[in-house]
Amino acid sequence: MGKVHLEDSDPKEKSTEFGLVRVKGTWKRQPEKKVNKDADCVSAAKIFESVTEKGTTWTVVSPIVFTYKVTETRDLLDPINDTLLLGHISCPQKLEDIKKSNQQIKRFVVIDQEVYKIYGPKLSQYLEANNVLYKILALPTTEETKSMDMALKILEEVNSFSLDRRTEPIIAIGGGVCLDIVGLAASLYRRRTPYIRVPTTLLSYIDASVGAKTGVNFANCKNKLGAYIPPAAAFLDLSFIKTVPRRHISNGLAEMLKMALMKHSGLFELLEKHGCGLLDSKFQADYSVCGRTCSQAASQATRIAITSMLEELAPNLWEDDLNRLVDFGHVISPALEMKVLPSLLHGEAVNIDMSYMVYVSKEMGLLTEEEKQRIISCMLSLELPVWHEACTMELIQRSLQDRLKHSGSLVRMPLPVGLGQADIFNNTSCEVLHRAYETWCDELSVSPDGSIEP
Ligand SMILES: NC(=O)c1ccc[n+]([C@@H]2O[C@H](COP(=O)([O-])OP(=O)(O)OC[C@H]3O[C@@H](n4cnc5c(N)ncnc54)[C@H](O)[C@@H]3O)[C@@H](O)[C@H]2O)c1
Ligand SMILES: [Zn+2]
Repeated sequence: MGKVHLEDSDPKEKSTEFGLVRVKGTWKRQPEKKVNKDADCVSAAKIFESVTEKGTTWTVVSPIVFTYKVTETRDLLDPINDTLLLGHISCPQKLEDIKKSNQQIKRFVVIDQEVYKIYGPKLSQYLEANNVLYKILALPTTEETKSMDMALKILEEVNSFSLDRRTEPIIAIGGGVCLDIVGLAASLYRRRTPYIRVPTTLLSYIDASVGAKTGVNFANCKNKLGAYIPPAAAFLDLSFIKTVPRRHISNGLAEMLKMALMKHSGLFELLEKHGCGLLDSKFQADYSVCGRTCSQAASQATRIAITSMLEELAPNLWEDDLNRLVDFGHVISPALEMKVLPSLLHGEAVNIDMSYMVYVSKEMGLLTEEEKQRIISCMLSLELPVWHEACTMELIQRSLQDRLKHSGSLVRMPLPVGLGQADIFNNTSCEVLHRAYETWCDELSVSPDGSIEP
């Protein structure tokens, strides 16, 4: 429960704290001291009233709780699996009532157009087999079309489908772009309509599905318009990943590597050892070449990535605390990604940012030369770019200044301190940044034929 501080209070001020008690269907305020928490139905909200000579101020403190599920499941589109339709409902009684009522389920589904080409028939069969009244909207959701226009297009269709805002969540199926746009559209519709995320890329499986952020690009900036509204649930099925192009598997591995470098040395070792196998098998258990160890590595890696991401996100869902380890790789990459759009994927830009920051860490004495080499080798084995000519010192400085503007007087930089451990630094000097940049370019800059110059 948050406390209201009245530090500069006026001596003539009269302030009272009120609790809120339910009385015959209405709420009444009662001085906090008189509230009987055992006998009454008491809200978690409070009203603080302060009366001064200038007037009266009511300060409302209303804790809002978000509850959402992240569920890993198999065969999500098998008609006998009801997770997609009912898995978001937590209350067993409610679930039983719905099952008993035999009322027809209604769902609005937005799906990435490319995903629809592969999984569209299976999705329609699933919905028909479950007697769902449905509309499927297949859209070209790409980084270039990740805009308010696309969100409005979805909203127009949602509106004409006439959903029941409380009981009929919008379902989004696709990569991070599709999930982000649909999440924002749902957050706007009737002020907040529940939505469900079904990630179909590795990146969205371990990252975009797990947290609360939604958004679209605006004014040439990544995700400048958005909301912190989590889905009702995210349903994760690794089998979607088998059709993801190899480059996009690497893309997702970059976000996984981020979590490994920040907080899990075991995950780092797993990626070092099985990275190539994970790329080849596309995280599928039935992949025959590398067999059992590889399928175990796939489920272990996704599980560690998801749980460590949730550990960082759950206590800071609205990102009020600016000291965020999950921002590693996201300091310079947003500007880099927008600058060279569409040539770099999100995870690739993140990896280039991480690669430079590894050099900053080394320059600050936080990583040994051997640790630095191991990290860069691991990045290369995951087929990720470790350098880019568009990532200039000028872009780095501009990104840091931009961060300063939005994060209250300190540039907070998450940096690895050893393998699988990190800390936030806010005193990185210009000299360190420059020296790291020079070594980074000397060691990793790519020649025109694509090879890394010695
Ligand atoms: N909300 C968050 O917390 C969060 C976190 C990380 C990233 N993001 C956002 O996610 C986006 C990147 O997501 P992404 O990498 O998934 O990109 P994406 O959504 O563009 O998908 C990548 C490509 O893969 C195709 N595709 C998707 N699933 C497929 C499948 N199963 N088989 C074959 N092809 C498939 C898509 O059509 C697309 O061409 C960025 O816009 C980023 O800002 C959001
Ligand atoms: Zn990211």
